[in-house]
Amino acid sequence: MNDVYESFKEQVRAQADIVKVVSEYVALKKKGGRYWGCCPFHGEKTPSFTVTPGKNLFHCFGCHVGGDVFNFVMKIENVSFPEAIKILANKYGIPIPEKQKTEQEILREKNSKQIFDANALAVKFFQACLLKTEYGKNALEYLSKRGIDADIIERFSLGLAAPGYHTLCNALERRGVSAELLAKAGLAVKRDDGSVYDRFRERIMIPIKDARGRVVGFTGRVVGKGEPKYLNTGETELFTKRSILFGMDVAFKPAKERKQIIVVEGHMDAISLHAAGIDWTVASMGTAFTEQHANLIARVVPEVVFSFDSDEAGLKAAMDAIPIALKAGLEVKVLVVPKGKDPDEFIRNEGTDAFKNLIAQAASGMDFQIERTLEKNNFSTLEGKVKTVSNILPFLLECKSDIEVVRRIRNLAQKLTIDENLIVDEFKKIRRGNGIAVSDALMRRKKEENKVNPVEQAERHLLFALINGGGNVTSDFLAEIDDISFCDVRRTEIYQKFIELSARKSPNIVADLFAELSEVCASELEVILQLDLSVNAASQILNDCIRQLKISGLEKQYEYHCRLASEYERAGDEKFLQELAESQRIKNEIKKMF
Ligand code: GTP
Ligand code: MN
Repeated sequence: MNDVYESFKEQVRAQADIVKVVSEYVALKKKGGRYWGCCPFHGEKTPSFTVTPGKNLFHCFGCHVGGDVFNFVMKIENVSFPEAIKILANKYGIPIPEKQKTEQEILREKNSKQIFDANALAVKFFQACLLKTEYGKNALEYLSKRGIDADIIERFSLGLAAPGYHTLCNALERRGVSAELLAKAGLAVKRDDGSVYDRFRERIMIPIKDARGRVVGFTGRVVGKGEPKYLNTGETELFTKRSILFGMDVAFKPAKERKQIIVVEGHMDAISLHAAGIDWTVASMGTAFTEQHANLIARVVPEVVFSFDSDEAGLKAAMDAIPIALKAGLEVKVLVVPKGKDPDEFIRNEGTDAFKNLIAQAASGMDFQIERTLEKNNFSTLEGKVKTVSNILPFLLECKSDIEVVRRIRNLAQKLTIDENLIVDEFKKIRRGNGIAVSDALMRRKKEENKVNPVEQAERHLLFALINGGGNVTSDFLAEIDDISFCDVRRTEIYQKFIELSARKSPNIVADLFAELSEVCASELEVILQLDLSVNAASQILNDCIRQLKISGLEKQYEYHCRLASEYERAGDEKFLQELAESQRIKNEIKKMF
């Protein structure tokens, strides 16, 4: 990134006040030094989404998203970083610096434009052949048999390449397209003598468009049976299968609305799904799913559903595609079409609803990876088990939480009948190898689950209960107890702040706590509020606490009176009888508490 760009970025950051920007999407209220509102990224009714103007940051304590003003716009508008900067620059009238184009770039753009134009002319010509000529009839009939009718033909601009070796070339050359350009566009093949002939003959022509709808190339399918079944424009500068997803131009809007995209392998699968109303589908055109495909999708939707053929090749393609999609930050699902059919055959035989059911039942990418690995490995021997574990553990690095890791490891341990702790140890090693901090919360939580420091746990539970306890229980509690000392200063501070806010009758104690506590205390509070306790348990916990504290109070009194009694007795003072009686009374009271 150059200096011009850096200073432009900082100018935008300075102008785009985070409170103003966020306010356009979220109703914010000021409390303390922060603003609060309901998080726009997860459903909630009480505000846990906060903006700190001084730091120019936002954060949600509920779903843990956060960042600066650019991150906010990226997330809420679902756009890339440069796009977010552009949106903000336009909003605040900051001129976007023009990039100086090199001569090479200017040439390349001119070149692309010529190819786009030639392709657009070819599309028109192929469409006319399909819809308006005698030899189009056979092709139309074939398409109709495959459930593809006029409006889908129109939506995908399907056409037909006529028979003969010079039909397209002649027609386009008459419109001023040079033989050179026809060859460059991949529409014609050049002979050694420089003359050209049509690359596609007697094929149904499927234009391949980029996300903006510009035709970058073609795929031709034989009408009916024949070899090769599919023929593509040779790879040109514009047509690179690695970076194009067929159907993105038409699937873009429906996918964005559904926050999901379906990826199939074949063009005809995509077209057929669109015909059946599953219009948020694109095709990888028979090539392996690439990082570029994944990034393209990640800019549009958060989730991808792979729907590949259920044969061995399709399952392997899904296994390969999953990590690529995960790396791009996508949620991944895998839909396996049953009975060895491809999505096109399935939907034409079983109908749209049956396919929608498959989508709804699609396994998560990780479930699919684990299931398939278990299917492929023989784990009846110890060696087999070790191999299976080491194949599966890397998948778990993608778990969203340590709770999920623990759950999955537990399942795996049961399936393979090995000790859970061994798998956990193995997983720790892998995590470290991947540069993931050893301070991992997983091990902390595992410890907490098994042999927690009971005092720490009790203190956290008490605070959880107080904060979640609701009106009555909490005020009963506070009336009974004057002072509690915690063995951790952070928790003492949280407690004191809580008392203070309760006294002020704060309507949103959680938000106020976060607003007014220091950072270290706020993160302790986060841990406390995330404890796996039900809010119903809160009143029980508080009652237990009241009892426990009363008992220890009484025990202290008991000791005090006993000590007095023995001092009086040694001094020969009659009052010792009185003290003895008092200590007996307290002892009985303590007994009654059990
Ligand atoms: P239909 O038979 O028309 O339903 O196509 P399909 O998608 O079921 O075909 P198949 O499963 O055989 O192939 C899947 C994808 O691989 C196709 O959509 C093409 O993108 C690609 N493909 C298949 N056959 C060929 C071929 O002969 N040449 C090329 N270049 N690609 C092919
Ligand atoms: Mn098929």
